[in-house]
Amino acid sequence: MHGKTVMITGGTSGIGAATARALAGMGAAVVIVSRSEARCKAVVEQLRAETGNDQLDYIVADLSSLEAVRTAAERFRNRHDRLDVLINNAGGIFMSRQVSVDGLEMTFALNHMSYFLLTNLLLDVLQASAPARVINVSSNAYRGATLDFDDLQMARRYSGFAAYARSKLMNILFTYELARRLAGTGVTANALHPGFVASNFGLNNGQPWKALIRLTQRFGISPDVGARTPIYLASSPEVEGVTGQYFVRNRAVQTAPITYDRALATRLWEVSAALAGLQEHAPELIGDARAV
Ligand SMILES: NC(=O)c1ccc[n+]([C@@H]2O[C@H](COP(=O)([O-])OP(=O)(O)OC[C@H]3O[C@@H](n4cnc5c(N)ncnc54)[C@H](OP(=O)(O)O)[C@@H]3O)[C@@H](O)[C@H]2O)c1
Repeated sequence: MHGKTVMITGGTSGIGAATARALAGMGAAVVIVSRSEARCKAVVEQLRAETGNDQLDYIVADLSSLEAVRTAAERFRNRHDRLDVLINNAGGIFMSRQVSVDGLEMTFALNHMSYFLLTNLLLDVLQASAPARVINVSSNAYRGATLDFDDLQMARRYSGFAAYARSKLMNILFTYELARRLAGTGVTANALHPGFVASNFGLNNGQPWKALIRLTQRFGISPDVGARTPIYLASSPEVEGVTGQYFVRNRAVQTAPITYDRALATRLWEVSAALAGLQEHAPELIGDARAV
């Protein structure tokens, strides 16, 4: 990975931190993104000491905010002239409904909109660095989820699990649509399931969720094992040119029929672009999508 630049959102904990460590160890210039300057600094210092890599950088951003995603993309551009691998990984589950600074439901804002907007804002850098890779950390939790464009923000009926499952379905729909749009550009887009990982995931919630999550995490794999697939997708020559796939344990697998629904993926793309302010014809597309 010498000479390559990798950006990892959520690089301070769990799967993202383990991925950052491995790629830094392979010689990549690694840029991590998180909400906390202190956590970013600590991880970068630790990685520098462990790997001897001095090309480590961080960007502080609350990725649930569209404005913060824009600023993060701008900061990246100001400091780096290439991007070989973008790993959209920062995500969470919110057991009670929360709303982002933009008035979007929090799971949707963080788990989907940050992937969508950050990628779109860095597409030109990725294309200029081609062959380049976009890797979206999704989850098998997407199974059984559906999209309801009349209540995309789950304002009428909210469940943390359902919001999470839906956001992970969006990650796959977004990945497949991105791969179609990027065909022939030299930029690939793939999604993955890391496995059930014992990390800080879900611990942002109050009791009794925290206790329950801690209990179930006893059965989880370590972040280092969970990071194997993103590391593979970021670094392996075996997946050079491979795009529009969903990987589990370094293998491309079929996903549920809904993920291959192109009309659904296009609609999600257009609504997301409108919400992110990437499209002119926003008002009629946003419609109920913004209702909170
Ligand atoms: N754990 C699992 O079993 C599992 C299974 C399937 C999929 N996944 C997916 O894997 C990804 C990583 O999860 P994990 O298990 O590694 O969780 P984790 O240990 O909680 O790490 C989450 C990372 O995201 C960052 N983050 C959270 N909210 C953020 C925000 N608003 N803005 C910027 N960064 C934010 C955190 O950094 P700061 O707190 O420093 O901001 C942290 O680095 C998620 O997308 C999750 O859906 C996890």
